[in-house]
Amino acid sequence: MNRLAIGLLLCVGGAAWASDNLFTANDHRIAIEVTARERNQILYEMREFLHGLHNIHHAMARGDMKAVALETKPMGETLSRIPANVRDRLPEGFMQMSIAMQEAFVALEKKAGGNGDSQAVQTQMAEIMTYCSGCHDTYRFEIVAYKANRRPTVDKVNPYTPQ
Ligand code: HEC
Repeated sequence: MNRLAIGLLLCVGGAAWASDNLFTANDHRIAIEVTARERNQILYEMREFLHGLHNIHHAMARGDMKAVALETKPMGETLSRIPANVRDRLPEGFMQMSIAMQEAFVALEKKAGGNGDSQAVQTQMAEIMTYCSGCHDTYRFEIVAYKANRRPTVDKVNPYTPQ
């Protein structure tokens, strides 16, 4: 490759990187204020979701729908493990997506445990992943020092919420 071609590649690559960076360097997601401990706890549950999906995908690849149902069961219960005082302070949109995802997991367990229709199971998995990615696109956590009985600042930062 001659020098000119390499120079051109670098220019194009550089421009792509610059525009990428402009897009990703700003985080426009809604911040949910939590303490460091609360964040750790929720992120722990998140990693459990990822482990669960990993196991479910392996079971699906083996065509083992009974194992899918077995792996799915605890995932419908994750929300209840978040302490009530933390749950109370999570924004409504966050809770709605969590509850919808929880219901989708319960439906997945039923579909996999019922007649084990693998196509229906895959469709249900796709619905679940819509909640994972939808919520991640919308919210992020921000660590604050503990403030008792304080609602999250979502109303302040969410431009769509009437003041
Ligand atoms: C109701 C909202 C919501 C749903 C639903 C949700 N997440 Fe999350 N998740 C979050 C937020 C918020 C974060 C933290 C993002 C940040 O602060 O940058 C997060 C972080 C994570 C992390 C990073 C954990 C770490 O240790 O840093 C993983 C992995 C994850 N989620 C997996 C999943 C999977 C898999 C699903 C679906 C089965 C899922 N999440 C569904 C809100 C959600």
